[in-house]
Amino acid sequence: MNARIEKLTKSFKINEFQKALIDWFKEEQRDLPWRESKDPYKVWVSEIMLQQTRVDTVIPYFNRFMEKYPTVADLANADEQDLLKVWEGLGYYSRVRNLHTAVKEVHEKYDGIVPDTKEEFGSLKGVGPYTTGAVLSIAYGKPIPAVDGNVMRVMSRIFNIDDDIAKVKTRKLFEALVEKVISHEDPSSFNQGLMELGALVCTPKNPSCLLCPVRDFCKAYHEGTQHDLPVKKKAKKGKTLQYIAVVLEDEDGKIIVRQRPSEGLLASLWEFPNSEVLSSWKNMVEDYEKQLVEELGVEVDVVEPLGVVDHVFSHLTWKIHAFRGLFRGEFVGSDNLKAVPIEEVEDHPFPVPYQKVWKEFKEKRGIES
Ligand code: ADE
Repeated sequence: MNARIEKLTKSFKINEFQKALIDWFKEEQRDLPWRESKDPYKVWVSEIMLQQTRVDTVIPYFNRFMEKYPTVADLANADEQDLLKVWEGLGYYSRVRNLHTAVKEVHEKYDGIVPDTKEEFGSLKGVGPYTTGAVLSIAYGKPIPAVDGNVMRVMSRIFNIDDDIAKVKTRKLFEALVEKVISHEDPSSFNQGLMELGALVCTPKNPSCLLCPVRDFCKAYHEGTQHDLPVKKKAKKGKTLQYIAVVLEDEDGKIIVRQRPSEGLLASLWEFPNSEVLSSWKNMVEDYEKQLVEELGVEVDVVEPLGVVDHVFSHLTWKIHAFRGLFRGEFVGSDNLKAVPIEEVEDHPFPVPYQKVWKEFKEKRGIES
């Protein structure tokens, strides 16, 4: 790898490149709420939120999060369900549970001070090489690469590299390359400059090469290959699972909600009673009605369809066939399966597909949001 890095950077003007990128970043960077302070805790939360999620989506979540949990101590002492509620809709919920675990460790083991070494910070739960580089460079000025998909796109063009960026080996190559060219005077602006360039100029489609501050350094631009880079081999498409779900209401306007297991996909979030449809479509509704009677110990009547909700996860797709139904009789619940007044349903964190089901239900029932 070292020989390859040497070859790639042989006649590359590192100092000029750093200056062009940093000057541009200082001039053109967007005003984003997490750029208002260098508080490592705030930088950390923003970087976790920004993984797999667009900046525009993150901004309101970040602001609400910081109002509710302004310090390490506030987050360390947070109730997990409240925390999931604040994260509701952002997706990839393991991010927030890992962040919670890690922040508790910082609170207890490091007296609330986010550690500033690669070894200590990088060993916290949910903190990988990207987060380590981003937080330690932005908050503490350490020259550590922060390579995500955007940075790989930018670097693949600048150095005209056509290795498959879906491979771990390729990410390591880009980390080694950034390590070689990163500014030691201002690693924060350097790393953020690469991110910002990827977001604003060196975009996946139709990059604005004519506006690019580092065009003169870009091998892909000179060879006309910028539209073919980066190379990313497609992952196999995940499978689709079919579900039937029912929003069940009783005469007192109580709704049955169920909590998902504390491990696995969408852990500890809430949903409406549902079941995977494994075989016969013909009797899907009748079969599930019977199953619900047994599971809930009440009479159940499925009344009307609410529609079909699709939700694409990174590795699979859910197709939820949602219905509205009624239940009658004494429902004996538990902590994870309970009937709650309609007004309290939204106090529970729901994943987006079930928020959509709930919205359809409210529309059908004429309930104002
Ligand atoms: N994407 C990832 N980290 C970012 C940051 N700090 N600012 C803007 N976009 C980002």
